[in-house]
Amino acid sequence: MDNRPIGVFDSGLGGLTAVRELARIMPEEDLVYFGDTGRVPYGGRSRETIIRYARQDVAFLSTFRPKAIVVACGTVSTTALDVLKTEWAVPIFGVVEPAARAAARCTKSGRVGLIGTKATIRSGAYERALDALRPGTRVVARACPLLVPLVENGRYQPGDIVAETVVAEYLSPIREETVDTLMLGCTHYPLLKPLIARYMGPEVTLVDVGEQCAKWVAGQLSGQGLRSGRTVPGKHRFFVSDDSGDFAALASAFLGEDVGGEVKEIDITVY
Ligand code: DGL
Repeated sequence: MDNRPIGVFDSGLGGLTAVRELARIMPEEDLVYFGDTGRVPYGGRSRETIIRYARQDVAFLSTFRPKAIVVACGTVSTTALDVLKTEWAVPIFGVVEPAARAAARCTKSGRVGLIGTKATIRSGAYERALDALRPGTRVVARACPLLVPLVENGRYQPGDIVAETVVAEYLSPIREETVDTLMLGCTHYPLLKPLIARYMGPEVTLVDVGEQCAKWVAGQLSGQGLRSGRTVPGKHRFFVSDDSGDFAALASAFLGEDVGGEVKEIDITVY
């Protein structure tokens, strides 16, 4: 039994979709979230910069003495997780392995689509993970840099002509490859799920990487005897590196509910 908090971070607000799942599965856990809203997006940056930012994000969360850290960011998980794991003793979980496991379970045809940021697609991390789990799986991958700004600007509802056009443009080559599973390799994408599901059709299973990661973390913490023994709901704290004033409104879309806990702005560059 361990009542220390779970640290969660993302380059911005997308990781809140993973927080939503973590809080649903483990309501008794304390969660500390950091969103690097001052430096988002990470997805178009170099590997060196992503690693430097991720080191600071982990250093900040470590000040809370967490029992585990969840990298709720596809870009950091695919690009910096191995480095972070060698540098910190605290267990650090990323989204790639749980999502690849889910995709390997779902696919019948062995043809899996993958969408993510440029850095995620460049890393080849999902291909490696799937190849280890289900050799011979064909991954049809596509970087979708316009999807994050669309979501951040609230343009993700089915029927939104801009969102529909951009999604069709990105996904048509993947649909043509007749994949039966599509990995949403970025934590912003769950908000686009209804629109993507409609475009891909009912025969394609969508894998939400944040959701899979949350389930995986719960299982890992239980297996290691690290779950909280509390019977009351845990506390949720939120930190950002820039609050342009509309954090609470935007964050509630990702969380699916109002941001109940405290929100504070911090200077991430000092970590
Ligand atoms: N959170 C990032 C991810 O999941 C998307 C936003 C960004 O590019 O920083 O890949």
